[in-house]
Amino acid sequence: MTHTALTPSALLAGLPVRQGFGDATLIRLAPGSIDLGGGNPATDLLPLDLYRVAFREVTEGDGFGALLKYTPAPGLASLRAAIAARDGVDAERVLITNGGAHGLALAVLSVLDPGDTIVVDDPVYPLFLRVLDLIGVNVVPLRVGAAGIDTDELEQRLRDGLRPKALFTVPTFQNPSGVTLSAERESALVALAEQYGFVVIADDPYRAIAFPGTTVPTRTAFRGSDHVLAVNTFSKTLGPGLRLGWIVVPTALTERVTWLRNRLDGQTSGILQAVVERMLADDRLDPSITAAGAGYARKATVLTGALRSEFGDAVEVADPQGGFFAWARLDGDIDFTQLFERAQDLGVTYQRGEWFAASGEAFRGFARLSFSEVSEHDLTEGVARLAQAWRELTGRGSGSDARSRLGS
Ligand SMILES: Cc1ncc(COP(=O)(O)O)c(C=O)c1O
Repeated sequence: MTHTALTPSALLAGLPVRQGFGDATLIRLAPGSIDLGGGNPATDLLPLDLYRVAFREVTEGDGFGALLKYTPAPGLASLRAAIAARDGVDAERVLITNGGAHGLALAVLSVLDPGDTIVVDDPVYPLFLRVLDLIGVNVVPLRVGAAGIDTDELEQRLRDGLRPKALFTVPTFQNPSGVTLSAERESALVALAEQYGFVVIADDPYRAIAFPGTTVPTRTAFRGSDHVLAVNTFSKTLGPGLRLGWIVVPTALTERVTWLRNRLDGQTSGILQAVVERMLADDRLDPSITAAGAGYARKATVLTGALRSEFGDAVEVADPQGGFFAWARLDGDIDFTQLFERAQDLGVTYQRGEWFAASGEAFRGFARLSFSEVSEHDLTEGVARLAQAWRELTGRGSGSDARSRLGS
C-alpha cells in the first residue's frame, strides 16, 4: 500500500505560527514558579456552592431528560430572556455561545470578508488578532488612552478616508491596559459607526469585575445601536471551564448569525445553559460577584504596592479599578527579552508588553501582570523575583529591597 502524506487545507497551512501571547512554548513554569501571566479567576472567588445547588436542581428536576436533546441554535429561550433582561436588550438579539472566543469567531465570520479593514485597540487582546487570521484582513491599530479607544483620532482618520468594516474594542477594564471607555467616547464611537457604516465589536468579559467604589458606564449607547455586536462570557465570573457566553447581535444580522452557528457547532450544552439560568435566578449570585470584585481589588493593591516598593520611580502603573490585570511600564535601557528569560530563571513569568501590540514592536518595557489567581504572598514574591532580574540587568537598585541591601 502506498502512503500519501496529508496536506492541511490552505487555511490551516496559511495560519501564522503562534508567537508571543498564547504560545505556551515561551512560558517556563518550573515547580515553585509564580505565574503572573494567566487569565483565570481565583477558584476560591467563584460561586462553587451555587453551582452545586444549580446542578442538583437541574439534574433532579423533571426537565432533565429533555436537556439531553439537541437544543435550539440561538440557545434556550429562558436563558436568552434572563440575559436580555440583565443587559437591557431584546431577547431575540441574544445568542448563547460556548464562551467569549467562540463569540469573537462568530462576530468576525459574520461581519468581515477577506481584505476588509478593521480598527482595533492598541494595545490589543492578542487572541482577537488570531481570530482575524482566519479571514485575512487589514488591521488598523488605534491608541487606547486613559478613557479608552481614541475616538478623536478615529474621527480624524475617517475624515481622511479610512473606511473600516468593523472596530474591535474591550470597553471595560481593557485587556491588557485595564482602562474603561468613557460614556462620552462610547457615544462618539456609536455615532461614528452609524455615520460611516461599520460595526463595533465590543468584547466585555471584565465588566462584572468592578472593584468597590467603581461604577461601570451603563453602555446605553452600545445597547441602543444596531451598529454594535456585543460579545460576552461568564468565564471571568463563573469560570472559563464552564465555556458559556453570549453575543448581542444587531437585529439585521440575527438570522444569518444563527445560520452560521448551525453550520459550525450547532448549539451550546443544554445542561450548562439550564445550570447558568438557575444561577442567574439565585439572589446570592450578584452579591458573590461583588464580593469577588472586592477580593480582586485586594490582590491588585498588593501587586501594585509591591511594584512601587520594589521599582520605585522606575515603574509606571495605574491602580486597576476592575478586571484581572495591572499594565506596568518598566524603565531601563535593557533587552526586555533577556529580562523575561532571567525572570523565568528566577521563578516568575508574565505576559510581555510587545505581545499586545496591534502591529509592530510597540510596548517594549511593558508587562501585563495578572493578580487574579495568585495568592497575596506569591504576588509579593513574584514581583520581588521580577525586580531582582531587572536589577541584575540594569545594574540599578531601587525601592525598599535595594535600600535595605545597601544597609540604609
Ligand atoms: C478580552 C477577552 N476577550 C475574550 C476572552 C475569551 O473568553 P473565553 O475564555 O470565554 O473564551 C478573554 C479571556 O481571557 C478576554 O480577556
